[in-house]
Amino acid sequence: MVSRNALLAVPLLQAVAVSASNVDYTSHVNVFWGASTTGNDFPGASRPWGMVKNGPDLWVDGTDSYSGFLVNGNFSGFSLMHEQGTGGAPKYGTVSQLPLLGNVSQPLSNLTIGRSGTDHGSVGYYNATTAQGVEVELSAAARAGIYRYTFPAKSEAHVLVDVSHVLPSYRGMNLSQHYEGGSIRVFSDGHYEGHGTYNNGWNEAPNWTIYFCGYFDTPATKNTTYSATEKTGSIAQPNGYASSTDRAIRVGSLFTFRNVTQVTSRVGISWMSTEKACKNLHDEIPKGTSLDTVVKEAKAEWNDKILSKITINSTNETSLSLLYSSLYFMSLIPTNQTGENPGWNSTEPYYQDFFTFWDLFRCSTSLWHVLQPTFHEEVIRSLIDIWRHVGYMPDARSSNYNGRSQGGSNADNILADAYVKGVRGAVNWDDGWQAMVKDAEITPPNYPVDWLAPDSSTHDGRSALPDWKTLGYITTRFSRSVSRAVDYAANDFGLYQVALGMEKKDYVEKYLNRSRNWRNHWNPDATSLGFSGFVVPINESGFMPYNMLTSDGYWTDPYYEASAWEYSWTDVHDMAEMIKMMGGRETTIKRLETMFIPGADGTSGSIIYDPTNEPTFNVPYLFNFLDRQDLSVNYSRSIAKTYYTSGIGGLPGESDAGAMQTWLLWNMIGLYPLTGQTTFLIHSPWFDSMTIDLGGGKELKITSTGGDGNGDSDFYVQSLKVNGKAWKKNWLTWDDVFSRGGTLEFELGATAVNWTDGELPPSPAS
Ligand SMILES: *[C@@H]1O[C@H](CO)[C@@H](O)[C@H](O)[C@H]1NC(C)=O
Ligand SMILES: *[C@@H]1O[C@H](CO)[C@@H](O)[C@H](O)[C@H]1NC(C)=O
Ligand SMILES: *[C@@H]1O[C@H](CO)[C@@H](O)[C@H](O)[C@H]1NC(C)=O
Ligand SMILES: *[C@@H]1O[C@H](CO)[C@@H](O)[C@H](O)[C@H]1NC(C)=O
Ligand SMILES: *[C@@H]1O[C@H](CO)[C@@H](O)[C@H](O)[C@H]1NC(C)=O
Ligand SMILES: *[C@@H]1O[C@H](CO)[C@@H](O)[C@H](O)[C@H]1NC(C)=O
Ligand SMILES: *[C@@H]1O[C@H](CO)[C@@H](O)[C@H](O)[C@H]1NC(C)=O
Ligand SMILES: *[C@@H]1O[C@H](CO)[C@@H](O)[C@H](O)[C@H]1NC(C)=O
Ligand SMILES: *[C@@H]1O[C@H](CO)[C@@H](O)[C@H](O)[C@H]1NC(C)=O
Ligand SMILES: *[C@@H]1O[C@H](CO)[C@@H](O)[C@H](O)[C@H]1NC(C)=O
Ligand SMILES: *[C@@H]1O[C@H](CO)[C@@H](O)[C@H](O)[C@H]1NC(C)=O
Ligand SMILES: *[C@@H]1O[C@H](CO)[C@@H](O)[C@H](O)[C@H]1NC(C)=O
Repeated sequence: MVSRNALLAVPLLQAVAVSASNVDYTSHVNVFWGASTTGNDFPGASRPWGMVKNGPDLWVDGTDSYSGFLVNGNFSGFSLMHEQGTGGAPKYGTVSQLPLLGNVSQPLSNLTIGRSGTDHGSVGYYNATTAQGVEVELSAAARAGIYRYTFPAKSEAHVLVDVSHVLPSYRGMNLSQHYEGGSIRVFSDGHYEGHGTYNNGWNEAPNWTIYFCGYFDTPATKNTTYSATEKTGSIAQPNGYASSTDRAIRVGSLFTFRNVTQVTSRVGISWMSTEKACKNLHDEIPKGTSLDTVVKEAKAEWNDKILSKITINSTNETSLSLLYSSLYFMSLIPTNQTGENPGWNSTEPYYQDFFTFWDLFRCSTSLWHVLQPTFHEEVIRSLIDIWRHVGYMPDARSSNYNGRSQGGSNADNILADAYVKGVRGAVNWDDGWQAMVKDAEITPPNYPVDWLAPDSSTHDGRSALPDWKTLGYITTRFSRSVSRAVDYAANDFGLYQVALGMEKKDYVEKYLNRSRNWRNHWNPDATSLGFSGFVVPINESGFMPYNMLTSDGYWTDPYYEASAWEYSWTDVHDMAEMIKMMGGRETTIKRLETMFIPGADGTSGSIIYDPTNEPTFNVPYLFNFLDRQDLSVNYSRSIAKTYYTSGIGGLPGESDAGAMQTWLLWNMIGLYPLTGQTTFLIHSPWFDSMTIDLGGGKELKITSTGGDGNGDSDFYVQSLKVNGKAWKKNWLTWDDVFSRGGTLEFELGATAVNWTDGELPPSPAS
């Protein structure tokens, strides 16, 4: 059992790895931050966007283990593939090893082994001890992992390679992954190669196959390869080979080590072939490489590529941990699979494990652009290449399969954001535009049918287009009709932006008009808590009644995972009109504040604003559109400081591939992006000094005086200079401080003052 307090990252003493600037930022990363079942962060070893995420798989009957890790439970394996911070249903947990002692009579029977003491981890390193006293240490390169086992003296020790190992789901929604067959062969030099085939999981994926290639640097005393069925149990196979194309027949090998205390194993993976898995291993973790070397290289890579991008001069360890842990967890997925695409040959980059853009388009992809412009451009190219070969850009994609789409086709917003901010590089924008038009015009076929939303496709694209295009709204014939309509409007705004930039004259007006169609769902007579006007369900005979506060909708409901109160704020590209429809400035300020007043919805003390999920991410900042920047500062800071704390339970909700972490980073920076526009809303920075490396020798330097240096108090803006000049708008644009770099100099204080000249952020659709 592991206690909450004991689960703290401890910096690894034996490996001193520092960045080019000689600072080891990894010491501030808590790899267990948000790793409880609230946040589902992945605590194991990985490289930035690495294909291998080497971590423990914990098993508690009836509990879904999304990242593999659970605070309680027994080890079912230590596997090389995981997602980061996701919900829905577990994915991966494949290519596993499990150390065991003593007689193992039924190796292929979902064996688990207890956990002893406390798991530890730091960037690129993880260790755990099993109930039998075996110490397991893990590290990772991009496409290969390394294990070091320390066995008790004089033991008969084994390492089990169970090809059928995969993370199951117990949610009872038919979303559990399945093993579907595989093979394993042990060669005369003792190394093993094989593949496993699996399917399903949150995105209801068809069969996918991963190949592996494993070595033990300490020779085994013996190895036995098995196949097993429920009926026969595990049966040893001759010639070290077992293979199956049937989910009922499991395969695996047991490697036995007698009188050996330390065993190092290196395993490569590939989506292409066993040969490629071996090549990945030999390229990245060649024979003789120690685990310590891999750990050191991992820390150096994280320092250089990711963590050194933002520096602050605070010495507050809580703040440093939140900052560097956020940078870390936003950079685990998507996976860079360039050269590892089993679907098609291409010279374009290839990324997957988008889990999901519904979470990430709001403020994460624009932060990718700021901090990791090369990665960001590669992702954009990859999205377009997926459209070329699959027919649609994904909203989510894992195991190389698009799905599922919860709302709109949010890649449109992401492309628009990149386009308006000048991303050109090697992006083929003619194709990018075609991919967006496909989303906007062509209904994806409803096959295979999603049993959780059978009315229309959830793979990709926008499957409620038949209504959207002909009626300008989405009837309740379609599931998630209201939440999809408000998202489709934002997607169409993305098309408008790109059409404008690319001078697609026939399309500019069309998509601008369509971006206003969220208004068709607005029932001015719908009332709740004394406010009137909400986005509501509709059919041809008119608006339909609904409880404006109901927030637990799911796949077949009119509102997905949030309420009418929340979704009514979605279409910020049309904010000026929204404010009119809500009854003008004063009423809208009151209404926005009502989102944050405990108990305003009649409950004992909860707030309507949902810090645990993405649909309301931008809501605390919308006061800027009402010339009340001070309220944006107050409410967003209160959310950040109340709901994000250090420690294992420190995230308000599922990280969702790092979406939560990017929200927190923007709060520290003092800006908030409006995806699809060049606009950034200004609130207030946490630190006296923050420098953001923008790449290409450019930087954004943000300083403040008068604050407490930590963002806890005295955070109201008194005055601001942008690039040395007095600034009176509560917003700025990409070109002001990002495209060439820049400076922001804040004067902060304890009381709210009116420092602006009243000019509001743009509402381009109003
Ligand atoms: C596990 O890692 C921690 C932190 O690096 C270290 O202090 C500890 O000695 C390690 N435990 C074992 C058993 O190696
Ligand atoms: C872990 O295994 C031990 C026996 O080794 C068992 O007593 C315990 O119930 C298991 N825990 C879980 C969560 O399954
Ligand atoms: C392990 O299995 C062997 C052979 O089946 C048997 O002789 C031995 O007694 C067993 N040892 C234990 C500790 O169960
Ligand atoms: C092993 O676990 C899988 C789920 O991963 C389950 O389908 C299977 O029934 C389990 N087998 C046994 C023998 O418990
Ligand atoms: C492992 O198995 C292979 C193939 O069956 C065999 O050639 C090799 O000698 C075995 N190694 C040991 C140490 O038993
Ligand atoms: C999935 O793969 C297994 C072989 O490993 C095969 O038996 C099964 O038919 C496949 N399923 C589909 C739907 O192709
Ligand atoms: C175990 O290894 C030690 C040291 O290498 C050796 O002295 C001892 O004889 C070995 N024991 C057995 C049972 O092989
Ligand atoms: C560090 O920051 C935390 C969180 O904001 C705060 O609670 C704490 O008081 C700060 N510590 C110091 C020494 O300022
Ligand atoms: C990619 O090209 C290789 C070499 O020409 C070929 O063997 C392979 O089948 C191609 N893959 C796909 C998915 O088309
Ligand atoms: C992605 O992987 C490819 C192939 O390994 C590599 O060339 C490229 O630099 C990687 N991209 C990033 C952003 O690290
Ligand atoms: C951080 O930098 C600011 C601005 O340069 C400076 O005023 C402040 O004293 C510095 N604080 C620390 C702790 O170094
Ligand atoms: C802030 O001051 C400006 C300029 O004096 C004025 O236009 C604006 O209405 C004021 N805003 C508020 C919220 O009082």
